[in-house]
Amino acid sequence: MQSKLEHDFGTPESHAKESVTLTIDGMTITVPAGTSIMRAASGAGVQVPKLCATDSVDPFGSCRLCLVEIDGRRGYPASCTTPCENGLNVRTQSPKLADLRKGVMELYISDHPLDCLTCATNGNCELQDMAGTVGLRGVRYGYEGHNHTKSQKDESNPYFTYDPSKCIVCSRCVRACEEVQGTFALTIEGRGFDSRVSAGMGESFMDSECVSCGACVQACPTATLSEKSIIQMGQPDHSVTTTCAYCGVGCSFRAEMQGNRVVRMVPWKDGKANHGHSCVKGRFAWGYATHPDRVTKPMVRDKISDPWKEVSFDEAIQFAADKFKSIQTKYGRDSIGGITSSRCTNEEVYVMQKLVRAVFENNNVDTCARVCHSPTGFGLKATMGESAGTQDFDSVLDSDVMIVIGANPTDGHPVFASQMKKRLRQGAKLIVIDPRSIDLVRSVHIAADHHLKLRPGTNVAILNALGHVIATEGLIKEDYIATRCDVESFNKWRNFVSRENNSPEALEPVTGVPANEVRKAARLFATGGNGAIYYGLGVTEHAQGSTAVIGIANLALATGNIGRRGVGVNPLRGQNNVQGSCDMGSFPHELPGYRHVSDKATRDLFGAAWNVTIQPEPGLRIPNMFEASMDGSFRGLYVMGEDIVQSDPNTQHVIAAMEQLECLVVQDIFLNETAMYAHVFLPGSSFLEKDGTFTNAERRISRVRKVMPPLSGLGDWEVIQKVAQTMGYPMNYTHPSEIMDEIASLTPTFKGVSYERIDELGSIQWPCNDEHPEGTPTMHIHEFTRGKGKFIPTEYVPTDEKITKRFPLIMTTGRILSQYNVGAQTRRTANVAWHSEDRVEIHPVDAEDRGIADGDWVGITSRAGETVLRATVSERMQPGVVYTTFHFPESGANVITTDNSDWATNCPEYKVTAVELTKVTQPSEWQANYKRFAEQQINFLHQAEAKA
Ligand code: SF4
Ligand code: SF4
Ligand code: SF4
Ligand code: FES
Repeated sequence: MQSKLEHDFGTPESHAKESVTLTIDGMTITVPAGTSIMRAASGAGVQVPKLCATDSVDPFGSCRLCLVEIDGRRGYPASCTTPCENGLNVRTQSPKLADLRKGVMELYISDHPLDCLTCATNGNCELQDMAGTVGLRGVRYGYEGHNHTKSQKDESNPYFTYDPSKCIVCSRCVRACEEVQGTFALTIEGRGFDSRVSAGMGESFMDSECVSCGACVQACPTATLSEKSIIQMGQPDHSVTTTCAYCGVGCSFRAEMQGNRVVRMVPWKDGKANHGHSCVKGRFAWGYATHPDRVTKPMVRDKISDPWKEVSFDEAIQFAADKFKSIQTKYGRDSIGGITSSRCTNEEVYVMQKLVRAVFENNNVDTCARVCHSPTGFGLKATMGESAGTQDFDSVLDSDVMIVIGANPTDGHPVFASQMKKRLRQGAKLIVIDPRSIDLVRSVHIAADHHLKLRPGTNVAILNALGHVIATEGLIKEDYIATRCDVESFNKWRNFVSRENNSPEALEPVTGVPANEVRKAARLFATGGNGAIYYGLGVTEHAQGSTAVIGIANLALATGNIGRRGVGVNPLRGQNNVQGSCDMGSFPHELPGYRHVSDKATRDLFGAAWNVTIQPEPGLRIPNMFEASMDGSFRGLYVMGEDIVQSDPNTQHVIAAMEQLECLVVQDIFLNETAMYAHVFLPGSSFLEKDGTFTNAERRISRVRKVMPPLSGLGDWEVIQKVAQTMGYPMNYTHPSEIMDEIASLTPTFKGVSYERIDELGSIQWPCNDEHPEGTPTMHIHEFTRGKGKFIPTEYVPTDEKITKRFPLIMTTGRILSQYNVGAQTRRTANVAWHSEDRVEIHPVDAEDRGIADGDWVGITSRAGETVLRATVSERMQPGVVYTTFHFPESGANVITTDNSDWATNCPEYKVTAVELTKVTQPSEWQANYKRFAEQQINFLHQAEAKA
């Protein structure tokens, strides 16, 4: 059900350039051609009664409630399906129309339960509204005959119900599932009176293809599809617009509230990243914010074997500040550092890196982007001059051919995937480069033109092979190269990539992809019109992650696919604020705006503003912090919002490093795996408790608005500020907007950004400055940020992680739609109904060789360690490759990943681990130890809570 808090124009907007002028109820109205009469009237303040129309889907014309009279036309056309034309004279009200509408409503109501007063959508029901609008005062037909009022509800979905007794068969849900979401899970089953909405082949919603995006619920005009939260809590009294805290799509939502209590999250129609669409996480999985596991009191202890002691914020911060100071006195200035998180706001990340640089007086600050998209920053900066994707999401609607490499958008970036699928259904071509048959390879009305099912670890080889075909078959955009690119670097690249050893034929034994298929894909990309490349962690999390990003940029440059709509190089960012956390200077070598710490002018700029001296040497990266901890030179760490023990590779090594620290401070909303090794716990706040901004994968800065006060009493930025003050540094912001003002004053790409400006424009894509006061949807239009686009040869170097007789399979990892990252949030929601454990997917041939059946427990052993998961036997994998997700700590997926990493950025090689699988009957030793340790730590927490 759409909320009354948003206006519904009835039919989608027309983007036609020509306009038409007509008269509606005596008013002269000019609208873009293709606009329906209903929408034109609505825009002019005239609401034509309607039931089957809503502005998120194309009109259907089934309810006959929106009839109008048009001079010179016979009958009563439906205003939702009739487009405006020049000179039309339309009447939306007349005695005859009123009679017809009343008759339609009478039929609907005669087969509808009259329990309005106790119905969950009472007061927000379009059927109820329309009965009032048409002036229905009685129903001539009784309930004695055949009707649907006793039909059984489907309660299978954890978040919404389907009550067929209230269905008016308007098909808005079916169209939303098709047009908005692209899943095609719903149909209208039966004919005439017997017709009803059905999920799949008469299945329940949970058993069907439904992915619980909520689009149908939003489209439904009655209580048929209703959020369970609304049924339990009732209707909201106000709403606040904010931004989803899950993935890098950065969907805008209206948090609909009763006082400080969220009643539901509704995707915001004006959100420029999502246009009113959502996925199961942002739409429904927000209950973690008030989960009983939230730790809301600060705690301290001397040793990790001690129970926790609840203390005040002042005491906890004093404890941490004293420890940090004494560590620095004893071991030197560089013996402490901080780790920021892409789940935090820009303002929090900025303040955290400022704490490290201005108060700790070193550059030992790093961010979780180290383990995901650091190669993106490196590769795109080297080739184009800016560490960010080149397009906005809407650009995909102008793409003619897309390459999706190392990304699984339907699971990782679902709302963008829906937009992508829409364009594919319109006829755009698709090349998928992935070891696994992801959903995009084949799903309803979508089929990849080419699936290059490569071996994990061979991205660079396949990119070189594609480049080889483009360079040797005359498919280079020579004029683009001549005007936009560094020609010398291009010539070097062309010579390199044209070598025979880079041909698809020579590389076929390496990649496992038939040369002919590579050739066809390369020709399609180079000649198919606007070509866009979308990529994810399947590109970056490799020993050659940065090389592959450069390889992608080379392909885009060679084919002239940068600098206009429909093209570009587009990293799909994993977490909500990966782009922002990188922008904010949380890398050890860069100050905000990607300016190197070795640059004196930049250091002086920040030094003057902060009244300190910035160190000219880069600080420690996360893996270097672990090593330094092991060698005794690094002794204090402040981790904000990140769970390095679960998310970083080679868990045993990370834990050993944590155990060596004299002071580990963790600021988080839950006692996560890292916090179990901490000495100070500072309670953090969820996105619902924050004011600030997130920057999504398209560089879009959106506001995060506080809808409830922080459960701990303090916002995260306030806690960091108190740490700074307690360590003797004057930091005195009174609101996050002041932090953004400081960022804007010191960072040229953010110069025009302020909270007022974001409120005014809805959101802003950086760069936003005097030249681009409203932001920059497409980058590098006339020239690249670095001037000329630079080609860099990308020699393929096989990873050191080789399969052997002992470890004959390659394991690769990924994520699933319903869970998010380390699962700390989504595991504490009803999303576990879809995914309650991590499993290892194995090809039937490999499974049979090892006597493994679907559902068996299997031990996965690598050079780094061993863990045990249940098996899913699936042809999605190719023989020789196994796959798992990493959302549950007890799975220990990172116990088996090695500490191999990208040569340029140290981004871990999560995607390639040589393993062997064997059938087992019990958990691994690591899992048994983990269970004991976690239970002890949870006990310590409960003891502290009980004492307080
Ligand atoms: S929730 Fe989404 S996927 Fe499921 S039926 Fe509704 S629109 Fe389709
Ligand atoms: S479930 Fe709702 S949207 Fe779907 S046909 Fe029935 S009334 Fe219409
Ligand atoms: S998780 Fe991503 S796609 Fe889903 S609602 Fe949130 S931002 Fe949108
Ligand atoms: S709203 Fe136009 S026919 Fe239903």
